Amino acid sequence: MLTSQEIREKFLTYFEGKDRCHKRVPSDSLVPSSDPTLLFTSAGMVPFKPYFLGQKTMPGNRATSSQKCLRTTDIENVGYTARHLTFFEMLGNFSFGDYFKKEAIHWAWDFLTKVMALDKNRLIATIFKEDDESLEIWKKIIPESKVLRMGTSTNFWNMGLTGPCGPCSELLFDKGESACTCGSGLQCHPDNDCDRWMEVWNLVFTQFDRQLDDELIPLPRKNIDTGMGLERLTAVVQGVSSNFEIDLFNPLVSMTENILGKSHQNLQGKDLAPFRLIPDHARASTFLIADGILPSNEGRGYVLRRVIRRAVRHGRLAGRQDPFLYQLSGHVIEHMRGIYPDLRQKRENIASIIKQEEERFLETLESGSARLEEVVQSVKASQKTQVPGVEVFRLYDTYGFPPDMTKEILKDNDLSFDEDEFETARITAQDTARRGWRGSGEEDTAFYAKLAHKIGAVKFKGYVADQVPKASVLMIVQEDEEKEDISKEEEAEVVLNETPFYPEGGGPVGDTGWLKNEECQVQVLDTLKPVGDFIVHRVRVISGSLKKNAKVAAEVDFDRRMAIKRHHTATHLLHAALRKILGTHVTQAGSLVTPDKLRFDYTHFGTPVTEEIRLIEKNMNDNVLKNIKQNSPAKEMALDKAQKIGAIAFFGDKYGDKIRVVKFEDATTEVCGGLHVAHTGEVGLIKIMSESSISAGVRRIEAVAGLSAWDYTR
Ligand code: SER
Repeated sequence: MLTSQEIREKFLTYFEGKDRCHKRVPSDSLVPSSDPTLLFTSAGMVPFKPYFLGQKTMPGNRATSSQKCLRTTDIENVGYTARHLTFFEMLGNFSFGDYFKKEAIHWAWDFLTKVMALDKNRLIATIFKEDDESLEIWKKIIPESKVLRMGTSTNFWNMGLTGPCGPCSELLFDKGESACTCGSGLQCHPDNDCDRWMEVWNLVFTQFDRQLDDELIPLPRKNIDTGMGLERLTAVVQGVSSNFEIDLFNPLVSMTENILGKSHQNLQGKDLAPFRLIPDHARASTFLIADGILPSNEGRGYVLRRVIRRAVRHGRLAGRQDPFLYQLSGHVIEHMRGIYPDLRQKRENIASIIKQEEERFLETLESGSARLEEVVQSVKASQKTQVPGVEVFRLYDTYGFPPDMTKEILKDNDLSFDEDEFETARITAQDTARRGWRGSGEEDTAFYAKLAHKIGAVKFKGYVADQVPKASVLMIVQEDEEKEDISKEEEAEVVLNETPFYPEGGGPVGDTGWLKNEECQVQVLDTLKPVGDFIVHRVRVISGSLKKNAKVAAEVDFDRRMAIKRHHTATHLLHAALRKILGTHVTQAGSLVTPDKLRFDYTHFGTPVTEEIRLIEKNMNDNVLKNIKQNSPAKEMALDKAQKIGAIAFFGDKYGDKIRVVKFEDATTEVCGGLHVAHTGEVGLIKIMSESSISAGVRRIEAVAGLSAWDYTR
């Protein structure tokens, strides 16, 4: 019987072979290098996007890979079906404007039936209902009755809302009537969401370029993108009925049995779930941390936190009271380090990060569960089906219950919760936490939330201007009271209808400068965004008096802003250089950008050697000297679009209605709301001042750019 390792290798060798000539490309990180708007690498084609879009060319125009992938959109199914996983490996062969349908279909059939020796009679092909071309090809291979026409939702693949897309043909393995779990018996159809049909391979024929108005224009160079889950293929080849019985999972399932002190044999449904989801989540968390993600309440870190906590909760339900997932992680590494050698040196760190997260969650799990139970009972008693969003927020904030986990628990009780109300509570709390300079406490945010409600969003003009000649003073606030005017030496907070001042956020500090008119000179000491898009200037009157409703010229301290921009662009260059020199597992763990220096925290296991630091510094300065232009204006993408193409934004994420993508061609591309230089040459010299460790797996670099670098070197 072939092992999963042999299957992976046979696949890559098959496509590398002399008749097929694909270039073998190593797996990219789970954090996509080529597209920062994506949360995770969710398919084998993700690293090849620039080739599909014709932005780059690959010698030979053919590639093959086994790519680490993560998908959490249907995480609640993981544990409850034979086939759902969060972390998996995707085998794929790709053609960039080279071969097309005929070769892709023939090779897929040849590989499955000859190399993998699968029973031909059990394979079924689906095609897009309008794709007669594929039908003709399939008819020469299998009887027409084995080719099913399917609709858009299953058999038309889109890379995004616009761009390359096309029909696909899937290969399904029929596990037989006895494997039917949907209850349709003899009527069970491949269109059913049922364990009987194992979708093994998806062949995408990327032949159109979708326009904004949905028109499909034929691509001059057609592409092939195929994806086959290694675990699913292995299950079929090894003749077992679920992913969890293959060699990649067997040892982890046995270890879970040891941990939970019982066998999984003869268990079903809820009782069986922990024996599936714990091994799956152990793999996902191990690989996520290895690729530089740390548990947190935002973005990718939130997904990791949720995965670990879901495993802990199910372990606890099955009777385990103490941390256990970190032990499984050791086994994951033991079994996978042959393929992913980098796991080895990260082993201790990964275990300690998982254990710490388990401990944190276990501390509050019991009281949180009791609280949730109370809420469930009271909602049920009042014959309602929806739990108030603030309750769910309290569980999140106080007990660390990720809202999606609460949702899952509520679903078991046929309940849901008010997601808008949850979101409002979350934003209010987040803004409270961000407030630094005006005292803290909920009443502050509530106060600003009220003002923001009254005035609405403040127009930010800073992307295009350093000054606004005539802004209106909408509000002056001093010690929580609205004032009509302020005079010499008084300090207050001022709200304008529009402003060029950048409010602190995302790393860079807030702008300073002046508000001026014939009656006054007012110094802007800092700029913040206490709630939403509500920008507030902290000011001191230098001369005259500032009145409500007055018109003022708002002028940013240009030199200081330039120094911040230089350090900000330097930060992006540093992030890119770290990923290039140390590896794509490096991700940002924190950032502070001031006019004088930058501080960048990043995930990395081990200590960069002097030569690596030199190369990082050189890479940044090379990119400065290339004087690369910023793609201007930075591309703003609607959130729903970003979500559709793979979702950097999701429940609990921090981005607003639109996300901005800042790009210096070939050097760096990041999702970012801040200000940057127009050409990298404006950054000047970048010099690293220090590199140190700040906690398990997290390191810090401090660096200077521009005039600060000149001063430092002097
Ligand atoms: N992109 C397609 C998928 O994810 C095939 O690789 O299924």
